[in-house]
Parts: sequence; structure tokens; C-alpha cells
Amino acid sequence: MTDKIDPDVRYKIESAEHAVTFVQSGMKVGLGTGSTAVWATRKIAKLIADGVLSDITGFATSRATAEEARHLGIVLMGDELPTDLDLTIDGADEVDPRLDVIKGGGGALLREKIVAQVSRRYIIVVDETKSSPALGTRFALPVEVLAFGWQSQRRFLESLGAKVYLRLNTDRTPYKTDSDNIILDCRFGPIASPKELANRLSWRAGIIEHGLFLDMVTDVIIGGSSGIRHLKRGP
Ligand code: A5P
Repeated sequence: MTDKIDPDVRYKIESAEHAVTFVQSGMKVGLGTGSTAVWATRKIAKLIADGVLSDITGFATSRATAEEARHLGIVLMGDELPTDLDLTIDGADEVDPRLDVIKGGGGALLREKIVAQVSRRYIIVVDETKSSPALGTRFALPVEVLAFGWQSQRRFLESLGAKVYLRLNTDRTPYKTDSDNIILDCRFGPIASPKELANRLSWRAGIIEHGLFLDMVTDVIIGGSSGIRHLKRGP
């Protein structure tokens, strides 16, 4: 069925649908955001409609995903995120060999990280273009900051070696996240120590969250020209 689809899209669909094979009836499932994760949400909805899956409750990582899931008929939890979710399927912008990832290209990093932290199994679905030898090589690191005093965060991020770009909408107004913050896209180049950088960013008042998702991912499913690759975090 997916044979006639553009390969770039097909690889996303294949990785997302492979991840859905790990969803079981009765699970509480985190629903990711972006052009890859949406295929997992659609597949879950289809399996529910077909009667293959039942008693699934979703928790959306963004307003856009909540809207899509509701439209597809998936029952969603309210804002009360439980202490744990059985499994979450989400996309990523860059994946390194340790299975650490950069996320936030779609602007949902804060909610995505909140959901990731309570997910027992956290599956990242990507196409093969997202693999990278070191985070920061291919993608700017999204950093969500409070609009108040944001220029001081820009200077702080520059002092850490980044070229910093305020994310804009197509009409050139500042992009606002679901939590009404702004995003600074930070081009660091290959990040030598993602943990050290993450620590420095976490300590800074005014920085709400950053797109480094470290030691969180349990599985990465990569769709590509030679099929599906399933990588698991080692013990
Ligand atoms: C949303 O904020 C992001 O973290 C996405 O999950 C990430 O940007 C991957 O998106 P695509 O699957 O659209 O590339």
C-alpha cells in the first residue's frame, strides 16, 4: 500500500507503524508530535476502529496531536498526566549512536519531555536521515525560553558557542509554543558533551526547556532504503 508513496514519507510511515506493533490493549500511550509520530497515532486509531486494540487511553504531547487524536476517535486523558505511561511513540530530529536525541523541531519539546519522563518505554521513530554521529551535527538545538528578558538568554547561548536564531512564523512574528514561550534554535555544531551542555542549560533561569533528550530513549526505530532497523538501549 505504501509502495507508491514518496520514499521519504514511506520510511516515516514504516518506522511509526512498526512501533505500533508494541502497543497492546489496555495500555496508556503517549502520542508524539510531528510528521513521523502522526503515523503512529493514525495506525493506533485504525487498530482501535478495527477492533484489534481496545481500552487504549492516549496522552497527547501537543495541542496539534490532541486535535488529531480526538478527530481520529482516540480517547485522551485530560491534563492529569499519570505517574506513568506504558509506552510513548515520538519522532526526533537527530539520533546519535547512544540513542540520545535532539527534539523540538516541531516546537513541542517541553510537553514531549514531560511525557517522555513518565514513559516506561519511550520509542523514537525516524527515517534514516535523522541518524548522526554526534548531536548538533545536523540540526540546531531548540531551546524554549521565556519571552521575558529573552535577549539575555540569546547572549548566554552565544557565550556557550551557539549561533542563535529566534524561531519565526511565516509572517515573521515570533513563533510561540503551546505554553506561550519562544524558541531559540541554537547551531552548536557537533556537541562534544551533551550532558554538560544539558546541565548548563537546565541551571539557567529563563530557559524553560531544551531539546536534548538524554538517557530517556529505550528504542529507536529507523525506516530506510534497506528496511526497518530496531535499536535498543543496552543494559
Ligand atoms: C516536535 O516538537 C518534535 O520534537 C518532533 O518530534 C521532531 O521534530 C520530529 O519531527 P518530524 O517527525 O516531523 O521530523
